[in-house]
Amino acid sequence: MNLYDRIPNNVNLSEDKKLQRALEKWLPNYLDWWREMGPESFQEKDVYLRTAISVEPDGWANFDYVKMPDYRWGIFLKPAEADARVGFGDNAGQPAYQEVPGEFRNALRRIIVTQGDTEPASVEQQRLLGQTCPSLYDLRNLFQVNVEEGRHLWAMVYLLHGYFGRDGRDEADALLERRSGNPDKPRILEAFNQPCDDWLNFFAFTMFTDRDGKYQLSALAESGFEPLARTCQFMLTEEAHHMFVGDTGLSRVVKRTAQLMKQGDVRELGGIPLDIIQKYINFWFSYSLDLFGGEISSNSADFFAAGLKGRYKEQEQYTDHTAANEIFTLLVVEDGKLIPREVPLRNALNEVLRTEYVKDCEKGLARWNKALADEGISDRLFLPHSRFHRHVGEYAGHTFDIRGNLISAEEFERRRTEWLPTIEDREYVRSLMHPVTEVGKIANWIAPPASGIKGKPFAFEYVRL
Ligand SMILES: [Fe+2]
Ligand SMILES: [Fe+2]
Repeated sequence: MNLYDRIPNNVNLSEDKKLQRALEKWLPNYLDWWREMGPESFQEKDVYLRTAISVEPDGWANFDYVKMPDYRWGIFLKPAEADARVGFGDNAGQPAYQEVPGEFRNALRRIIVTQGDTEPASVEQQRLLGQTCPSLYDLRNLFQVNVEEGRHLWAMVYLLHGYFGRDGRDEADALLERRSGNPDKPRILEAFNQPCDDWLNFFAFTMFTDRDGKYQLSALAESGFEPLARTCQFMLTEEAHHMFVGDTGLSRVVKRTAQLMKQGDVRELGGIPLDIIQKYINFWFSYSLDLFGGEISSNSADFFAAGLKGRYKEQEQYTDHTAANEIFTLLVVEDGKLIPREVPLRNALNEVLRTEYVKDCEKGLARWNKALADEGISDRLFLPHSRFHRHVGEYAGHTFDIRGNLISAEEFERRRTEWLPTIEDREYVRSLMHPVTEVGKIANWIAPPASGIKGKPFAFEYVRL
């Protein structure tokens, strides 16, 4: 581990002068982007952050106060395995690719650029949230997520520079040029152009949208293109905390709402009513489902055949790694009706991955509903049907109710405010967002966490203001 190089890394960057020079040229542009689009107003503050210092499962991270622009962003790959093999597809069992396979160069570059684009996008979406943090603990968690998304951008830029030559370098530059929500140069995926301007949005985003990241990265962590696999494996280590922030954040909001429900009217008491929480779930869950791509996809079949992108836990969960002869049945809309259609399994792998994701989200819902039950409240939160409010794939262009029944566009519009956050809902949530920055204090609309970070209490100065 070359931790004190200008670009910390465990890929022996100093031995590849050309790549090192290219990345050192990209570095100041990255820092300019961070200063312009990273967290507003807190750049000079000391934040209690974890920094990756090794890729060993135990003790990979160091916790200490850091000013965010001084964060050690670096390039860390899980160590190479001896004799790594392609794990699935038509080339299963052959030696893993150490270079980009020629015929899949464009497709692979697209996968890496699309993943890479989400990382700075989320930092941009969250850049004003620090100003309304519910506690110092939450403020620190926000910044932890932000700096690690910055590092994930580095991870993808390393692959672009290291394996794609000139067009890789151009793509790396473009990653710093697009801007979330900017109509002229938007980020690639729609969920990453949606505003994330209050903390309920932030928790729903880290719960649902970061979790999409987990599933994409998991599928790529078993890629036959070994540098990508090893990069994603280490990113997943960091990603777990982001989902923890979202999952427990929402759980704490739900718990507080339940407590206030027992005292009287949640709005009058300054909490977030359950129906608004449900609408935020509906919004972010449906946008996050879109990130998996079309239900029927020739790209997914090609990526799998090539051994580039597998299923979730391909090695652990499956014995047949060719998926060549199986059939997958899904419902599609034809002549105004939902009817079953059979497709080759390889063409349905986006949907297979999405189904794994939904199962994982259900576990979060169960935890939040337990928070309600623990407070003696009988209301329950739920996930909308995966056909609801979709903009990508088989169900885009059709309208479904929250339970997945096909309905007319007029009916959807009539009932939209039942299911999705209205301007008034968003304004109400925003009206609660006042910064609480005293050590040990917390905003009224959220419960404190069960414990602090790295053995520290909740009442700890996580950010020195
Ligand atoms: Fe990330
Ligand atoms: Fe993340």
